[in-house]
Amino acid sequence: MLQNLHAQPVDKILALMAAYREDPRDTKVDLGVGVYKDATGNTPVMRAVKEAEKRLQAQQTSKAYVGLAGDPAFADAMINLVLDDTIARDRIAAVATPGGTGAIRQAFELIKMAAPEATVWLSNPTWPNHPSILSYLGMKSAEYRYFDRATRGVDFDGLMADLDKVTAGDIVLLHGCCHNPTGANLTTDQMAAVIALMNTRGAIPFVDIAYQGFGDGLDADAQITRMIAAGFDNVLIAASCSKNFGIYRERTGILMAVARHAQEAKLTQQNLNYLNRQNYSFPPDHGARVVTTILNDPALRADWEAELEETRNGMLSLRKQLADELRRLTNSDRFDFLAHHRGMFSQLGTTPEMVEKLRADHGIYMVSDSRMNIAGLNTDTVPILARAIVAAGI
Ligand code: LMR
Repeated sequence: MLQNLHAQPVDKILALMAAYREDPRDTKVDLGVGVYKDATGNTPVMRAVKEAEKRLQAQQTSKAYVGLAGDPAFADAMINLVLDDTIARDRIAAVATPGGTGAIRQAFELIKMAAPEATVWLSNPTWPNHPSILSYLGMKSAEYRYFDRATRGVDFDGLMADLDKVTAGDIVLLHGCCHNPTGANLTTDQMAAVIALMNTRGAIPFVDIAYQGFGDGLDADAQITRMIAAGFDNVLIAASCSKNFGIYRERTGILMAVARHAQEAKLTQQNLNYLNRQNYSFPPDHGARVVTTILNDPALRADWEAELEETRNGMLSLRKQLADELRRLTNSDRFDFLAHHRGMFSQLGTTPEMVEKLRADHGIYMVSDSRMNIAGLNTDTVPILARAIVAAGI
């Protein structure tokens, strides 16, 4: 049987992690996978997470199954974090999932069950696992223009022109904040126009929000998601706790589905529970319980928010340092977009050949589409990267 298998496509982000590990140069710089690193290159366990784990360790009396949807307190806390009170709670169905990716996978499967003919529209570019999972599930997908390679901002006219071709009932996947891979984001005015157009076309939004708190702040980063949630009868939202709680390997995420009314939400909830049962039965609990403990304890929550703010401000400062250094070296404002982008990533907008040159000549690792993880930098490596970008002639 196993001889019938054939090699599967390699995920370019994960392949880069392996290549970096094997590079013997001690001057190498890892700007690949989207994992936050502090100035020493470490991915710390956040203080509030450590404390919540201590409390759980002391107080937890059982590891028995919780429920197919996970702990309801986790759903309530996450709905509050992402949506605040935008939508009546009884209109929302929600299940805990293994990470944000688990939520995306379950959302695609829900779409497949409810609207098998629908096309899922993805931004060009998007996180590579979006099209990969869709193709694995045999679902239809299409692309809408998103990134303007000239300005390194959003190609808003292109985006609107492409979304004007969406068929009623199609799904449009939007990034809630901190667009991955580009770092370029829609303004709230632009999003209002997108919402109006999508309503005219009868499109259904699916929001992937994996970096809340990494852009302009916890509430600011949720604003677009809240606008979308308020603007449609049905909305899917996949949220990840990997980055903002720094609990990558705990696999903690949630899928929320906004329904028209409580009865529709109940039916959706029953379907989401069923999907969890078919795919992995009960979702992981530890990370979800850590998150719930933090969000529901005012002191822990304040400490978590403070540390998240330090993280966010650190990345903003690195963005500014890099843009300033490139301004100095090139005597131009060509790279100012780096300071305007938000989140963990920026796309340089250069060719795979140039990216390869940066790797071969300078040991700088970024994804072949020229996405770089800003959090992979520190004050020592910013000038090294800036010089390498200029030397490569980008
Ligand atoms: C990324 O985009 O680098 C992260 O979301 C990690 C991943 O799984 O790809």
